[in-house]
Amino acid sequence: MYLIIFICTCLIILAILSICAQQLHELQASVLSYGKLNLHNNKKPTTNWANQLSKLVVPKHYFSHFYVIGLISAIVSIVELISLSYFKKPLLLIRLLDLYDNRTGSHHLSQQQCSIGLTLITCHLIRRVYESFWIERPSKTATMHISHYLIGIGFYGAMVLGSWLEGLSNFESLHQQTPVDMMALLAISLFLYASYHQYKCHVILSSLRSKNEGYSIPRGGWFEVLVTPHYFADILIYLSLNILYRFQNYIMICGLIWTAVNLSIVSKETQTWYYTHFSTEKYNQAFPHGRRKIIPGLY
Ligand SMILES: NC(=O)c1ccc[n+]([C@@H]2O[C@H](COP(=O)([O-])OP(=O)(O)OC[C@H]3O[C@@H](n4cnc5c(N)ncnc54)[C@H](OP(=O)(O)O)[C@@H]3O)[C@@H](O)[C@H]2O)c1
Repeated sequence: MYLIIFICTCLIILAILSICAQQLHELQASVLSYGKLNLHNNKKPTTNWANQLSKLVVPKHYFSHFYVIGLISAIVSIVELISLSYFKKPLLLIRLLDLYDNRTGSHHLSQQQCSIGLTLITCHLIRRVYESFWIERPSKTATMHISHYLIGIGFYGAMVLGSWLEGLSNFESLHQQTPVDMMALLAISLFLYASYHQYKCHVILSSLRSKNEGYSIPRGGWFEVLVTPHYFADILIYLSLNILYRFQNYIMICGLIWTAVNLSIVSKETQTWYYTHFSTEKYNQAFPHGRRKIIPGLY
């Protein structure tokens, strides 16, 4: 229970902090921007502390670490849960949870929901590992703030844990398997649909790098209607997981809130970046009229 409360609190505080950081010039200039938003960034820190803070960066292609570490934690989770439900033998992670935490709040999700959720998250992480190493062509100069790096690692670990923590007690006995219900089928379909489109967006972005290392305006697929369709797909992925858990998984609800808030902020910054980085003429030529930032027809 303590871990569930801790993860939810961290995610909500982070969402609030990123909204605040967007309003504060010093934090926006030093911490918030990453990747292309950091290059040719007009917003430079003006105070010494913010200037020092802005220097704590790592290469942006370290994004791949999030997915590798997330995938390792997903594999560990799968082994732990198999050992618990089939052999009645808790391994290290669950033993530690039993030692330092309690089982309150770990009954309300079914074993089936948790198994499907963990499988979907594992598939997501496998795809992102594949894309990070074999599809994307990250620039060698782009950076992100160290706080982004730490949050990214924590986030995927939290989502993996969140997929089963609130149903852990139901893994202690093997339940009779019931047929997958309509909500689960809807969630799986939405997950697959969003994953496919996110993959396509990442392929389009990588194709822009076939000629040079710089940045161009992406076209095709969902880029015709949105500035950052890969972020929209990410939101749909966390929405699909929440549908699977019927909005009863507190960690997953907080994960969706954090993703929607964080990516909406980055999406707004991205649109501004395209405006300032390309001439109005090129922007108007290349960007289809009425293109939204992240939510089709809305925002
Ligand atoms: N759940 C969450 O909280 C969360 C948070 C962040 C990201 N994500 C997900 O992680 C994925 C990657 O996110 P991101 O923020 O790194 O996306 P991004 O900034 O759009 O970058 C994705 C890749 O495309 C390249 N790229 C972007 N715009 C380009 C352009 N105009 N021309 C040429 N190349 C371009 C980037 O190169 P550079 O190497 O130069 O950047 C990078 O390799 C997304 O699908 C996102 O949904 C999730």
